[in-house]
Amino acid sequence: MWCGIITLFPDMFEALEYGVLGRAQKNDLLKIACWNPRDFTDNKHGNVDDRPYGGSPGMVMSVQPLHAAIQAAKKSAPKNTKIIYLTPQGKRFDQPAAEKLAKEDGFIFVAGRYEGIDERIMQLEPGEEWSVGDFVLSGGEFAAMTMIDAITRLVPNVLGDAESANNDSHCAGLLEYPHYTRPDCYQDLVVPEVLLQGNHQAIAKWRLQQSLGRTWQKRPDLLEKKTLSTVEQELLREYQASEQGIKRD
Ligand SMILES: C[S@@+](CC[C@H](N)C(=O)[O-])C[C@H]1O[C@@H](n2cnc3c(N)ncnc32)[C@H](O)[C@@H]1O
Repeated sequence: MWCGIITLFPDMFEALEYGVLGRAQKNDLLKIACWNPRDFTDNKHGNVDDRPYGGSPGMVMSVQPLHAAIQAAKKSAPKNTKIIYLTPQGKRFDQPAAEKLAKEDGFIFVAGRYEGIDERIMQLEPGEEWSVGDFVLSGGEFAAMTMIDAITRLVPNVLGDAESANNDSHCAGLLEYPHYTRPDCYQDLVVPEVLLQGNHQAIAKWRLQQSLGRTWQKRPDLLEKKTLSTVEQELLREYQASEQGIKRD
C-alpha cells in the first residue's frame, strides 16, 4: 500500500514507524511519503495560508501550494491512486470502509489545517472526502494516520496469523469477545472455566456468545444492522436470560 501525504507537519508521520505499521514499512508492505506544501509555494514570503475571502476568523490553506504538492506526489504515486481529503464534512470512516479501501493500491491523503483548505483544490484534483468522526480535529494528520492504520492492517500479510483481524470488533458487525491471560486467578477474579479446559468447540461457542452478548450490551445499534442465524439468536437469548437472572430450562 502506497500512502502519499500532503501535510505541513511531515514529522508527525514518524509515529507510523512503530508496531504493526513500522513492521509493514520495513517489509515493504506499506510505503509512506510526505509532501509539504511549504516546499511548493510560489509567493516570495513562502506563505501556505491566507485570510478567508468574505472575512471570518482563522486562515485557509492556499490552493497553489496544495495543488503543486499534490501534483508532485502524483508523480511518485502508483496508477489509480485515490486522493483522499480529510475533513469533518466527509463520509464517516468505519471498518467496512477500511475493508474496501484496503483493496486499493495507493492514496494521497490531504491533511488540512487552520479553517481548512481552499475549496477549489477539489475541483483541480478531484478526490473523496472522508471524516474519522463527528468531531473537529485541529488538523488532518491524526485523521490520515487513523485511516492508514485501520486500512494497512487489513492488507494481506501485514498482520501475522496470531494477530489476524478476522475476529476483531466490527469485522463481522459484532464486538469481539473478552480476553484473559495468566494468571488464571488474580485477587479472587478468575478466568472463565471454559477457557481453561481446552475444548475448542466449547471455547468457540462461548466466544461467539460473548461476542453477541457484548454487542447487545454495548452497541445494540450494530445488532439491528445484522441478521443473526438461528444458532446465534439462541446463543444471544441464553446470554440475555443469564444477564437478566432469568432461569431457562
Ligand atoms: C480545524 S479543522 C477545520 C474544520 C472546518 N473549519 C469545518 O468546520 O469543516 C482543520 C483540519 O482538520 C482536519 N479534520 C478535522 N476534523 C476532522 C475529522 N473529523 N475527520 C477528518 N479530518 C478532520 C481537516 O483536514 C481540516 O481541514
